[in-house]
Amino acid sequence: MRIILMGPPGAGKGTQAEKLAKELDIPHIATGDIFRKAVSEGTQLGKKAKSYMDAGQLVPDEVVIGIVEERLYKPDCQEGFILDGFPRTVPQAEALDGVLKDDPLSAAVYIDVEFDELVERLSGRRICRKCGKSYHIKFNPPQVRGVCDDDEGELYQRDDDNEETAKERLEVYMKNTKPLVEYYEERGILKRINGSQSPDDVFHDIVKEVREKL
Ligand code: AP5
Ligand code: ZN
Repeated sequence: MRIILMGPPGAGKGTQAEKLAKELDIPHIATGDIFRKAVSEGTQLGKKAKSYMDAGQLVPDEVVIGIVEERLYKPDCQEGFILDGFPRTVPQAEALDGVLKDDPLSAAVYIDVEFDELVERLSGRRICRKCGKSYHIKFNPPQVRGVCDDDEGELYQRDDDNEETAKERLEVYMKNTKPLVEYYEERGILKRINGSQSPDDVFHDIVKEVREKL
């Protein structure tokens, strides 16, 4: 299965992609995670991406596309993949079509959440330093405050999850990424999911939609 997970910042793409990757046994490729790793390791890519991310802006297409293409040609993507946070612009979507050629996407899952909910989700998010798992101080708290349930890693807040940058990310999303909903609707592969339910219910709905494709 070749799946893309779409939706505004905070819609739950990362939360759902992690579960779906385990369920379907295919890799979860998140461009945001790739960039955050590069930033923390201080690589050339990280240096390029950091200023855009801190400002809530998109990293330029030519940088992102090259990275995703390289990742998709790796052998573990032969059986399928889940893309989370890519594509985010029409040129990125067209580049993806070019890479996939005769093996097109199985589904574009769009997680729909009311805008008012998103800023609260983003500002309360905490992430495990060890495994990257996402929590929320109110909606999905860990058993012990500040500590990951799975590996006792320390939980931290992303630099771009402050209210001001979160709002900027939402604006950038509306301008650049929302038009892709139509792009995939026209191709007949868009699956709309109500993301304003519990994470388990959202997951249930996604699995139901993508299983129909198996
Ligand atoms: P990226 O990391 O992709 O961030 P994003 O799209 O803003 O998405 P988020 O990770 O913020 O949200 P999510 O939908 O994954 O939500 P989550 O599951 O964590 O990108 C970061 C930056 O990198 C961009 O700004 C850009 O600069 C750059 N970048 C990345 N990809 C790029 C690209 N393709 N092109 C150009 N630039 C790119 O959930 C959020 C919170 O809500 C969590 O706390 C979670 O526990 C909670 N939650 C989840 N589900 C529910 C639920 N059902 N009910 C209640 N709470 C919930
Ligand atoms: Zn962890």
